[in-house]
Amino acid sequence: MTIASVESSLFSPFSLGSLDLPNRLVMAPMTRNRASADGVPLPLMATYYAQRAAAGLIIAEASTPNAVGQTYPNITAIYNDAHVAGWRQVTDAVRAAGGRMFLQLQHGGRVGHPDTSGLSPVAPSAVPLPDSIYTPDGHQTAVVPRAMTVQEIHATVADFAVAARNAIDAGFAGVEVHAANGYLLHQFLAGNTNQRTDAYGGSVGNRIRFVLEIVEAVADAIGAERVGIRIAPGLTINGIEEGDTDTIYPALLGALAGKGLAYLHVVFADPDQPLFHTIRAAWPGTLIANPSLPWPGPLPADGGKCAAERLLDAGADLISLGRAFLANPDLVSRLRIGASLNPIRDAYLMYVGGATGYIDYPTLTDEPTRQSHPRHRPHSRATAT
Ligand SMILES: Cc1cc2nc3c(=O)[nH]c(=O)nc-3n(C[C@H](O)[C@H](O)[C@H](O)COP(=O)(O)O)c2cc1C
Repeated sequence: MTIASVESSLFSPFSLGSLDLPNRLVMAPMTRNRASADGVPLPLMATYYAQRAAAGLIIAEASTPNAVGQTYPNITAIYNDAHVAGWRQVTDAVRAAGGRMFLQLQHGGRVGHPDTSGLSPVAPSAVPLPDSIYTPDGHQTAVVPRAMTVQEIHATVADFAVAARNAIDAGFAGVEVHAANGYLLHQFLAGNTNQRTDAYGGSVGNRIRFVLEIVEAVADAIGAERVGIRIAPGLTINGIEEGDTDTIYPALLGALAGKGLAYLHVVFADPDQPLFHTIRAAWPGTLIANPSLPWPGPLPADGGKCAAERLLDAGADLISLGRAFLANPDLVSRLRIGASLNPIRDAYLMYVGGATGYIDYPTLTDEPTRQSHPRHRPHSRATAT
């Protein structure tokens, strides 16, 4: 009798709305700071994403829907024609290579600096980021953001809707609303950053209002089946203290569950935590889980495959991986055959630089001599996004 090897369900196909994904592996959104100073994606980015087109789905990096939402230098934007044209080159290259892409929409809120965007950052309340922030002149003390007026809140909701339409014009299959990792939407959800006393602050029902309005506006603009949302329950990155994680997310998901969205994407999902199972039970649609791997690295030798399979067993539909995709353009093939993975060569180059540390990670078929090792490490930027 022969024992047939059973292939991991990570490599089984999945239907995400009208998209046929060839596998369950999603490339997580990763800000790589390779756009022009005014947010236009550069040709290098088309090469980078096309190299990773074997992912079931690529969620392209956080892109700002307006100027004041810019977080860091050289991040991508999606609010004018030049941004659309730049992204169009990227989506064309990925489609030609057989891939599928969503674009993440992110407003930084208090995670921004006048030296980067030229504007004073805005936030739910005038509560500054406790950390320093990376700017064109290196790390600087964060400035106190200005509390948004209700008019500004409405204008920002409208900006997200326009940005979503732009993303579709640029060739994306959909967008992911970034409500995670301590940026503007997360700042509205969390008690320590949202100290408003109007309809957008105070009670849980009020604090979820801004996120709901954005999701609804974006869904009205491009169709709910083309809209995903990313959340990070309990994550304290960027100085966030939600205060009532166990109340706020069930309320948020309860309000979103019937809207027919493309997916819910959960950062640092842990099947050993009750919250993961609460979320799975509360969400009737597609669930993308981003495993909780050591942060900062190094990554486990299997690149997170074991953690991914545990999450699929616990009810996730798709698995997103970040750093393993960053360092391994052919990650899907490597995980499928159990090949060893490239480690991340230089943490600094994750966030800053040109082609080096970006499009030069070798595939299994490349010659080992093509691996280059940067000699100069200016300084590290420990800001995760
Ligand atoms: C270089 C880098 C940039 C990132 N940028 C983003 C981003 O733009 N949006 C976001 O939601 N998460 C961002 N993240 C977080 C990743 O999407 C992911 O959640 C994180 O890397 C954990 O997954 P991993 O352990 O597979 O790397 C970034 C992570 C890295 C390493």
